[in-house]
Amino acid sequence: MNKPEALLIPEPVVGTSRPHESAHLHVSGAAPYTDDLPEPAGTLHAALGLSPIAHGKLLGIDLERIRQQPGVVAVFTAADIPAENNCGPLLHDDPILAADELRYVGQPVFAVIATNRELARRAASLARQVIQAEPLPPILTALQAHEAGQYVLPPMHLTRGEPAEYLAAAPHRLQGTWSLGGQEQFYLEGQISLAVPQEGGDGLLLHCSTQHPSEMQQLVSHALGWHAHRVVVQCRRMGGGFGGKESQSALFACVASLAALKLKKAVKLRVDRDDDFLITGRRHGFDYRWDVGFDDEGRILAADIDLISNAGHSADLSAPVMARALCHFDNAYWLPHVAMHGFCAKTNTQSNTAFRGFGGPQGAIAIEMILDGIARRLGLDPAEVRQRNFYAPGRDTTPYGQQVEELHAQALTNQLLTSSRYAERRAEIAAFNATSPVLKKGLAFTPVKFGISFNVVHLNQAGALVHVYTDGSVLVNHGGTEMGQGLNTKVAQVVAHELGIPFSSVRCSATDTSKVANTSATAASTGSDLNGKAAQDAARKIKSRLAAFAAERFGCAPELVAFEAGQVSGGGQSLSFEDLVAAAYMKRVQLWSDGFYATPGLHWDRTKLQGHPFYYYAWGGAVCEALVDTLTGESRITHADLLHDLGTSLNPALDVGQVEGGFIQGMGWLTMEELVWHPITGLLTTHAPSTYKIPTANDCPTEFRTALFGAPNASETIHRSKAVGEPPLLLGFAALLAIKDACAAAGPEGCDPPLRAPATAEAVLDAIDAVRT
Ligand code: MTE
Ligand code: MOS
Repeated sequence: MNKPEALLIPEPVVGTSRPHESAHLHVSGAAPYTDDLPEPAGTLHAALGLSPIAHGKLLGIDLERIRQQPGVVAVFTAADIPAENNCGPLLHDDPILAADELRYVGQPVFAVIATNRELARRAASLARQVIQAEPLPPILTALQAHEAGQYVLPPMHLTRGEPAEYLAAAPHRLQGTWSLGGQEQFYLEGQISLAVPQEGGDGLLLHCSTQHPSEMQQLVSHALGWHAHRVVVQCRRMGGGFGGKESQSALFACVASLAALKLKKAVKLRVDRDDDFLITGRRHGFDYRWDVGFDDEGRILAADIDLISNAGHSADLSAPVMARALCHFDNAYWLPHVAMHGFCAKTNTQSNTAFRGFGGPQGAIAIEMILDGIARRLGLDPAEVRQRNFYAPGRDTTPYGQQVEELHAQALTNQLLTSSRYAERRAEIAAFNATSPVLKKGLAFTPVKFGISFNVVHLNQAGALVHVYTDGSVLVNHGGTEMGQGLNTKVAQVVAHELGIPFSSVRCSATDTSKVANTSATAASTGSDLNGKAAQDAARKIKSRLAAFAAERFGCAPELVAFEAGQVSGGGQSLSFEDLVAAAYMKRVQLWSDGFYATPGLHWDRTKLQGHPFYYYAWGGAVCEALVDTLTGESRITHADLLHDLGTSLNPALDVGQVEGGFIQGMGWLTMEELVWHPITGLLTTHAPSTYKIPTANDCPTEFRTALFGAPNASETIHRSKAVGEPPLLLGFAALLAIKDACAAAGPEGCDPPLRAPATAEAVLDAIDAVRT
């Protein structure tokens, strides 16, 4: 431990900007990810043979042919799975390897194990030649499935008031349909698992890039027919997850584990980027049908909406994703009478899953498109119409029955519209457009309200294990996973603060199912809320034992013992933290502790879709300006002003990174990332960076300003901070609407361009064509 620093301590540990604990390793390429871990001698490598057809009956596989390929050690199929052939998290409808039905192009059918990865891949690439199947007609789009009444789950309905009556009586009606694309997580580190047999095959250590080690442990044990205590899952860090490694790391974990156990050798499964695209699901694309009634001022009186998600071939997390979509259709707005109908369409495509926002963005963007349409119909400024619809005192209960307690929307909007010079820029843009026939500019403001907590109450719990060693250094383990978001940094800050020691005295170790059990996924943005509190609880237990011990030495009351700046003091005396700890050890004081946290006050009835699912809301707002070339359809977001509510930030540097990154990711989803399935074969044709375009540094707005809305969280969270992982993704809505505004400038006064998302050049040209003819 670094003594000189321990004596200095210039600043409080919580609430200050400090780099990610692994930043120096990230930038130098030295941070070990799963593929960088040393491979045990004799490690074998797996590759997956994928279904070449979208739908069919599996008749047979010529396994002999695969076995004869160079380097091949074994081939496994569904028949080799000792217990349950399932990697589905909620419903058990997701085979690890196809059993009798082929459900999409890219579905894993067999696993090849070879002496190296290249040879395994070569053999697996013979899939098309060795799989015998009887093709069946596929259903490739959500609307086709909806028409056929084909769903992965029963439809969900959330209704308040008398929407039909109030729609009929409304002075104005807006009716429409809209289509929104999905999004690939594009984690830089692909899916990977390394399974290492332990104790002569009696146990298993699984290194897995996953947001959900406990679920990997469970699904692997179920597949093997084992009890969970035989499987240990570890993850030190991921090179990004973005929701894609919440449930969908399981297939890779199960295959690597199965092969390792059968062959009694370590087995690694690292999929190629193209295979990752073809095998795993992503953000659900949605289709909408809406009917909205409003008054002369643009206030929504009633709304009736269908939300149809493309779930893919199995349920995966589609139910909670749809529940979150339904609970975010209101976004920041009071909807007195509303009926929402959610359909999770079953199609012959990859099974869609979690992605930053988890359905929330797909719910909230619908109301933003509706409000934009209402403003254009009435000839009002969309920002004005939005504010008229905000939740306000007396109009503050959500359709699912939760009262919105912190009403930050108006104050935040006032601050943002002023700082971004919204009104002045409206006029400047109108003047520019009047004299520019080809290039058009557009401006948009959108707000965000995002509910924090898992919609499923029991998941809102966390555990931690804190060790203080006799030299005063501290090792923290908690149930959360590190995927680049900085969770370990924040948790270490919390523990350092609690014990009054410098940040450098605290380290976090790899997430490990043998240290903290039965953890929830690191998801729903709750990582630091839950694990920060659990680690604080553990640190407080140790602190109170140390305080009692110190009080005896100092001859003062334990409440008077202070832990600050690496010193423990009381009764006019003082001791360094290290010396106190060393002395406490000699007197047999327990220097480690567990900690636990469960979010208070939550309840949720998932059949009625009513309750209090969220501990609090995170708020935000964005103003974007777009420049569109009306001849080519190309667009650019030239300016973005973001104002985001983080409560009292635990670490503003990390949080600003999350706000900027979330915004860019949302902008990418809505403006350039396009998924295209072949309309006949069902092959995902955009399965690599060559055809699937994510934003790069070059796409960042030239003027990019991010500010934090500085109100402490009214709920009693860890140091009154707020979750930040997902809500800023919704700030990207303003990018799409700014492009739509520019398209409107290309048409006649008062037009409403039917711009779909993503707003690619083709989509922009289609929208402009539609308003010009
Ligand atoms: N930031 C980085 N750098 N990498 C990621 O994979 N995932 C996002 C968000 N920010 C992600 C990220 C998602 S989907 C979630 S739910 C949260 O981080 C999870 O972490 P937290 O709960 O600790 O915020
Ligand atoms: Mo995030 S989509 O909840 O992993």
